[in-house]
Amino acid sequence: MRAYQWDELTEEQREVVSIAKEQIHHSYCPYSHFHVGAAAKLANGVIIPGCNQENAAYPSGLCAERTALFAAGAQYPEQPVEMLAIACYTGGHFTGEPGSPCGACRQVMLETEHRYGGKMQVLLYGEKETYVFDSASDLLPLIFVSENLKG
Ligand code: THU
Repeated sequence: MRAYQWDELTEEQREVVSIAKEQIHHSYCPYSHFHVGAAAKLANGVIIPGCNQENAAYPSGLCAERTALFAAGAQYPEQPVEMLAIACYTGGHFTGEPGSPCGACRQVMLETEHRYGGKMQVLLYGEKETYVFDSASDLLPLIFVSENLKG
């Protein structure tokens, strides 16, 4: 992982992060008031947005990352996801430090990478700096994937 200032990111990274940032306006988070935006860039160049979707039955909601990755899988099942950006917003501003994806989202990121057989870059935006992980596997050691089911 490396931390970058905004102007150190590539134009492509800035575009994907900007879409994740815009998505906080679509978050449905009346319970936590914690807005999370996400954007997944596919190998064909399409960028799929996502944001957290909460529910009065709390566990029924879904995080921004999984909303974006599952929407990508539903619309473009053959397209590898090459980049995933996340931005968190609360109390009227984006968080200074980058948000940290929950364990369930990390597991889904890993399955996405595993499914397409290539690396997915993960960008965690913060007002102070953006963390760039070259692979989702850098966010979760000792992964559980399909091979593990075979025993
Ligand atoms: N949330 C995400 O969207 N992504 C994460 O990785 C962490 C948490 C959402 C879920 C819930 O709507 C709100 O943030 C507070 O937990």
